[in-house]
Amino acid sequence: MQSLAGKVAVITGAGSGIGRALANQLAAQGCCLALADIDADGLEATAAPLRRDSQHVSTHALDVADRNAVHAFADQVVADHGSAHLVINNAGVAVSQTIAELRYDDFEWLMGINFWGVVHGTKAFLPHLLAQGEGHIVNLSSIFGIVSLPTQGAYNASKFAVRGFTEALRQELCLTPIKVSCVHPGGIRTNIARSARFYRGMDGRSDAARAAERFDRLARTSADQAAQTIIKGILAGQPRIMVGADARFLDHLQRLLPANYPRLLGKLLGKG
Ligand SMILES: NC(=O)c1ccc[n+]([C@@H]2O[C@H](COP(=O)([O-])OP(=O)(O)OC[C@H]3O[C@@H](n4cnc5c(N)ncnc54)[C@H](O)[C@@H]3O)[C@@H](O)[C@H]2O)c1
Repeated sequence: MQSLAGKVAVITGAGSGIGRALANQLAAQGCCLALADIDADGLEATAAPLRRDSQHVSTHALDVADRNAVHAFADQVVADHGSAHLVINNAGVAVSQTIAELRYDDFEWLMGINFWGVVHGTKAFLPHLLAQGEGHIVNLSSIFGIVSLPTQGAYNASKFAVRGFTEALRQELCLTPIKVSCVHPGGIRTNIARSARFYRGMDGRSDAARAAERFDRLARTSADQAAQTIIKGILAGQPRIMVGADARFLDHLQRLLPANYPRLLGKLLGKG
C-alpha cells in the first residue's frame, strides 16, 4: 500500500492504547475508519474527536472472541464503507499467573481474544480483500510471541500462535495482492497491565498495583510511537514489524541464545 489516503482501515481494540493511537494517525493520513472495541465508552472517546474532524468513522461494539459477531462486523463494514483495505487485528488482553495455578476459564478467555480474535478478523475480512484484489492484514503478536517469561504462559501461547498463524497466511497469500504483517511490540505504555487478570507476577508476588507500576517503568515506548512504527512498516510492506528497541534486542537475543536467553532475561529483569 503506497498511500493510505482514502483507504478504509479497520481496527479492533480501538478504544485504548495502540488501537487508539493507530486510529488517530491513520485518520491524519486520510483513512476512513471502522473502529471496534468491547468497551463502548473507550471506543466513543477515540471516535468523537475524529468525527469532529469530519472523517468517515464508524464504530462497532464488538467482542472479537465471538465468531459470528466478527463475521457480521466485516459485512457491516463493507456495507457502511463500500470496502475494507487495511485490517488491524489489535484487540488483546493479558493474564499473569503460573501455569500450575492458571485457571482454564482465564486461559480460554485470553485465547478467545488474543488468538481466536485474530483468526476471526482474518477469516472474516479475507474474502472481501481477495475479491477486491487489494488489502493488508496486520496481526498483533508481541515480543512475547518470540520470547517467553514465567507467569506469561497463556499470553505467550496466544502470541506465539498469532505469529505461526500469520506467517503461514503470508506464505499462502504471497502470489496474491494481499499483504500480511505480524507486529511484535516490546513494552508499550498502555492500559494493558492495568486491565490484566493479575494473580501472580514474575517476582512471585500478588501485588497487581506494584506490577502495573513496574510495567510502566519498563515499557519505554509510547502508544503514539508504536503506532508510528506500525504505520511505517505497513507502508513499507514489512512482513515483520518490530516495535521498540527492547523488542529488537530481545529478538536478537533469542536467536543468539535460543535455549539460554531466559537466564539473561531473568538477570536483566532483576530476578538473577
Ligand atoms: N502494551 C504492550 O506492552 C504490548 C506489547 C506487545 C503486544 N501488545 C499487544 O497490542 C495490542 C493492543 O494492546 P494495548 O497495549 O493497546 O492494550 P490496551 O489495554 O490499552 O487496549 C486493548 C483494547 O482491546 C480491547 N479489548 C479487550 N477485549 C476485547 C474483546 N473481547 N473484543 C474487542 N476488544 C477488546 C480493550 O477494551 C482495549 O480497548 C494487544 O493485542 C496486545 O497484546 C501490547
